[in-house]
Amino acid sequence: MKISIIGGTGGMGEGFALRWVVNHDITIGSRDAQKAASAAEQYMNTALSSYGNNMKGTIKGADYVSSSRDSDILILSIPYESIKLTCDSMCLPTRSRLTLLSASPWRTKTISGKTTQININQVLNLFFH
Ligand SMILES: NC(=O)c1ccc[n+]([C@@H]2O[C@H](COP(=O)([O-])OP(=O)(O)OC[C@H]3O[C@@H](n4cnc5c(N)ncnc54)[C@H](OP(=O)(O)O)[C@@H]3O)[C@@H](O)[C@H]2O)c1
Repeated sequence: MKISIIGGTGGMGEGFALRWVVNHDITIGSRDAQKAASAAEQYMNTALSSYGNNMKGTIKGADYVSSSRDSDILILSIPYESIKLTCDSMCLPTRSRLTLLSASPWRTKTISGKTTQININQVLNLFFH
């Protein structure tokens, strides 16, 4: 599966990439294509030294728009406040086959009005077993 991580240069994105590359092809998305390329190279080296020949996927870098094209799953892993502006201003082509998820904390309110935080990993575990 092709997974693009918008904001993949951040800590969360790195963590996702290093886990999912075992079985999937990852594209790291950055506002700066050069930054994406160098992060991808660094992650790839880390992954290769950890998994060796057991790794089936690859990691490459691209700018936000390029990285969001041709992906099966598009992950938004950028600060929550920047999601709307990023999607609006860059007209991200959300042609991903399955879904678009945010790595920002997801909050929900219980009947009593108490706010709880949903961990993104709980959601992603539904997709990646
Ligand atoms: N649900 C959870 O369990 C959980 C846990 C921790 C964090 N989070 C959330 O996950 C998200 C990612 O965390 P993180 O620590 O990796 O975030 P981060 O390092 O602050 O940001 C990730 C990347 O987003 C890009 N970015 C920064 N400011 C931006 C802006 N104004 N517009 C567009 N892109 C921008 C940067 O990439 P470039 O400079 O390369 O473009 C940056 O490397 C955050 O929203 C955080 O709150 C969720």
